[in-house]
Amino acid sequence: MARPAARYVCQACGAVTPKWAGRCETCGAWNTIAEEVAEARPKAAPGRRLPFVGLSGEAPPPPRAATGIAELDRVLGGGLVPGSAVLLGGDPGIGKSTLLLQAAAALARAGRRVLYVSGEEAVEQVRMRARRLDLADAPLGLAAAINLRDIAASLEAEADAALVVIDSIQTMWLDSVESAPGSVTQVRAAAFELIRLAKQRGFALVLVGHVTKDGTIAGPRVLEHMVDAVLHFEGDRGHQFRILRGVKNRFGATDEIGVFEMTEQGLAEVANPSALFLAERRGNVAGSAVFAGLEGTRPVLVEVQALLAANPGGAPRRSVIGWESGRLAMLLAVLETRCGLRLNASDVYLNIAGGLRIGEPAADLAVAAAIASAAADRPTDPGRVYFGEVGLSGEIRQVAQAEARLKEAQKLGFTAACLPRRVARGNRPLAAPEGLALHEIGHLADLVASLRA
Ligand code: TYD
Ligand code: MG
Repeated sequence: MARPAARYVCQACGAVTPKWAGRCETCGAWNTIAEEVAEARPKAAPGRRLPFVGLSGEAPPPPRAATGIAELDRVLGGGLVPGSAVLLGGDPGIGKSTLLLQAAAALARAGRRVLYVSGEEAVEQVRMRARRLDLADAPLGLAAAINLRDIAASLEAEADAALVVIDSIQTMWLDSVESAPGSVTQVRAAAFELIRLAKQRGFALVLVGHVTKDGTIAGPRVLEHMVDAVLHFEGDRGHQFRILRGVKNRFGATDEIGVFEMTEQGLAEVANPSALFLAERRGNVAGSAVFAGLEGTRPVLVEVQALLAANPGGAPRRSVIGWESGRLAMLLAVLETRCGLRLNASDVYLNIAGGLRIGEPAADLAVAAAIASAAADRPTDPGRVYFGEVGLSGEIRQVAQAEARLKEAQKLGFTAACLPRRVARGNRPLAAPEGLALHEIGHLADLVASLRA
């Protein structure tokens, strides 16, 4: 047999080149190209005729297996879909194995057949974690293995598995592929085989994937295209809470988050994240404002903190954690040019308290309030929440779901909200929840003036 041809594969994006190069031409990453031996292709079998069908007709919604962990089920879109594949990504040590062991044990306790294959930890290590989490009695099947041929043979023999967890896909190894475990070719081939089995046998498959420094799931982007859902487990190891975020989901919305707290007994669900994010807030400090945000369908209140430090010489620093730095630069420019706030002799530090990362432009108004409050050295009203997008001329623009934000603020005992001016939308006026005073503002200068006065 002829020796299979060597080829060069970028370990970051999966692009294939015939020659080695220091830099991948496709994704631009440096030193990611490695030699891999092409997979031997199995002999082609004759194709099967496809049963083409019409557009009408009904497919019943796939029955889902709820794990009973509400924060996880919501991000999945209501539970695990049989025959689907989910990729769970996250930094090492963030709690992926813990979350999946808890979910697997919950399903097993509910009488479903669950298999947990660990390629990273020995059986005894997983058992130790189970004991610590008080899950040792859950009747799930556990194996420590990395040889995909063994795993596939075992799964072929399973008649009614509901969930199979593979922890992690980077450790899996297919002997027909010559590259090392963790390489793009191995990961892709192993995932392909497992996904094929999931579809054929009808079990939900969860693959754990490690994340590289730049935030992509290690090695292959290609993996993200192969699975039905991609979830990211994030959090700051200095904080105890973790956020599960859906970044792709063929069976549900992608902007949902699940919030957990890492405790001594594993991951605890946080049903009321606003209370958690605001827990350490001290009222009456200049430079702080509460943002009434929205994560997926859920309103979440968080504290925005700004600190200004005098820097008369040199280039002023702008440092931001949890928000976009480009957005901060824009907001600072609007505050200077439209509202007369002098910030060019100050360093500006912005922080979203608790480690949450905010992507909504609706946070503009709260960020501006925090900065203006810091500049005026006057605290904002501690009972007030802020939301609204700021335009380049300083105008405050409408944002989605004002009602949901206001309701959350009321629920948490806030008494006022600062929000964009309502434009008549049909004949449905915005209902202010009882006990919540609405302060509508049309221009950012009004907010700055009110904090100065
Ligand atoms: P783990 O699930 O092993 O992370 P991953 O699979 O993403 O690499 O979680 C590891 C961390 O979680 C570890 O630093 C210890 C901590 N932990 C707790 O704080 N409480 C617990 O009950 C468990 C099981 C882990
Ligand atoms: Mg792990």
